[in-house]
Amino acid sequence: MQSMSSPPACQGPLTAATRLCAVLGAPVRHSASPAMHNAALGALGLDWRYVGCEVDPLHLREAIEGARHLGFIGLNLTVPHKLIAVELMDELDGSAVEWGAVNTVVFGRRNPSGDWVPVGQGDAGGSPVLSRGYNTDADAIIRSLNEDLEIEPRSARVLLLGAGGAGRAAALRLAAEGVSVLWLVNRTRERAEALAAEIEIRFPNVEVRIGYPDTDVEIVLNATSLGLKPGDHLPLDLNQFAIDRADGVYDMVYRPAETPLLCEARRAGCRASNGLGMLLYQGAAALELWSGRPAPVAVMREALQREIHGGIP
Ligand SMILES: NC(=O)c1ccc[n+]([C@@H]2O[C@H](COP(=O)([O-])OP(=O)(O)OC[C@H]3O[C@@H](n4cnc5c(N)ncnc54)[C@H](OP(=O)(O)O)[C@@H]3O)[C@@H](O)[C@H]2O)c1
Repeated sequence: MQSMSSPPACQGPLTAATRLCAVLGAPVRHSASPAMHNAALGALGLDWRYVGCEVDPLHLREAIEGARHLGFIGLNLTVPHKLIAVELMDELDGSAVEWGAVNTVVFGRRNPSGDWVPVGQGDAGGSPVLSRGYNTDADAIIRSLNEDLEIEPRSARVLLLGAGGAGRAAALRLAAEGVSVLWLVNRTRERAEALAAEIEIRFPNVEVRIGYPDTDVEIVLNATSLGLKPGDHLPLDLNQFAIDRADGVYDMVYRPAETPLLCEARRAGCRASNGLGMLLYQGAAALELWSGRPAPVAVMREALQREIHGGIP
């Protein structure tokens, strides 16, 4: 278990009947998902626990298989697993197909009528347990941009940094939302080019360019993992794009709560937000898929605030 904060008081004792959920990543120790989900599981009175597991991407397949056979309810996937997992699922939900990455896995069965029954929601008889991949990141980023930066992405000009699992889902979702121009910058240029080509085909009304904007933008969005580790350089080359040319800067990284990018943004007078809101809404959607019950969003938000602002340094 990676989170060092104490479990919420309302969680019952661990027993042989307790079921597990987990976030798999490398690294994973930064993840606030265990704190958020354990608070929610306690509030819902579910005898489940949520843990963090460091999994090398070379062994992601075995880790997912292991979780399936150990009777896990479901998984979240974080850096660097979201793209790899698309090939590893037995089934893909429309959200994973649409946004091209998997951040939530639900284990479940097909009942005799062929309906999907998550293992967290009942017994569908003796048919084999399957893994089904979903994407809950894409809608979460749009909601968090609205709430936390008070920016409506429709018609906005957006500079997106990163084209990994989260960047890809964000780019496609922003294109679907109707941004006017999307600039893509990624360390591996070919990945950004492949994403741009896909957007041009699927969303022909969106102008997509590789490289830095030569104009002001409404949103700069960091979807790289830069900022997670102390000493990481900025995900943005300030010589190529002055940050005060952005209205709002959103960093998907949420630990540390104030990344170097967000510090630069605030110094330049931009609106700035870390990725806590995105984490909250993708997590709430995942919990609803696993449990079939409304997520206790207020409890989850409070647990996140405690974990990030009052918990582990
Ligand atoms: N707040 C949330 O709810 C939320 C949700 C999803 C993701 N995230 C965060 O978003 C970040 C990306 O996650 P992911 O799942 O997309 O990971 P990923 O699939 O592994 O992608 C990582 C991205 O970061 C870039 N990158 C990594 N190291 C770099 C370096 N040293 N210099 C420049 N670029 C570098 C990669 O570029 P290459 O293509 O060149 O490798 C790629 O674009 C992570 O920090 C994750 O924690 C947050």
